[in-house]
Amino acid sequence: MQSTVTPQPAATSPAAPMATPHTPPAVAVETKTNPNPPTGTTPKGPDWWLMMRAFLTQGKRIASFAPSSRFMARKILDGIDWAKAGSIVELGAGTGPITAEMVKRANPKTKLVVIELDPTLCGRLRERFHDTPNVEVILGDATKFGELLAERGIPKVDHVLSGLPLPSFPAEARDAILETAARTISDGGTFRQLTVMPLIYYKMYRRYFEDVRFRFVPFNLPPGGVYVCRGFRGAARV
Ligand SMILES: C[S@@+](CC[C@H](N)C(=O)[O-])C[C@H]1O[C@@H](n2cnc3c(N)ncnc32)[C@H](O)[C@@H]1O
Repeated sequence: MQSTVTPQPAATSPAAPMATPHTPPAVAVETKTNPNPPTGTTPKGPDWWLMMRAFLTQGKRIASFAPSSRFMARKILDGIDWAKAGSIVELGAGTGPITAEMVKRANPKTKLVVIELDPTLCGRLRERFHDTPNVEVILGDATKFGELLAERGIPKVDHVLSGLPLPSFPAEARDAILETAARTISDGGTFRQLTVMPLIYYKMYRRYFEDVRFRFVPFNLPPGGVYVCRGFRGAARV
């Protein structure tokens, strides 16, 4: 952000000779805000250790003991039209394996909003992407992602990518996330959900979406896959 500040002339003493009236030139002051400020936690150790430790201490909320493989990251992004994508939101980014692959592929003008609830994992994301201007890392709750996007003036996104353990969320929270996704995704966009339990929750996603395709990813620890969903039917929890 750039703002223009006009410096005030210094006060002159009454005894001083009259100075020629002088308007100092406007000075452009750079007030650039860093979208990825440090969280205050500097996570120590490699990504796999941070995920393992988070999994051991928080269990279901993390749902996976290792970061997604690059095969998983590629699979969740396959088919995205990067020339058209204006903004993408990623929910539950962990240590950022999918974010990193998005950064490689995305047009630098594509806004990538990344939300993570765990402060240590968020600290790793901010370390990793602090100098990537089109990435904004938010320490926050993905169930509120509609508000988080609205606060940033982003009414619509092209795709929602989720690493959240949605099946273990309370039904109301899952409904809220999927309803927000349906409201927020632009025409032609998708909701993409990764999983480490291949196909087990296919029926659950079919209750929410008209069209659900599953992409298997064998090279992941553990093997998993991605649901690519279109055509929200409404919150159809049973
Ligand atoms: C299965 S891990 C996936 C991490 C990463 N996307 C990957 O592929 O390696 C799930 C992530 O969702 C995060 N998470 C769980 N509940 C969340 C919530 N309500 N809001 C934001 N993130 C959440 C966890 O902290 C964890 O990092």
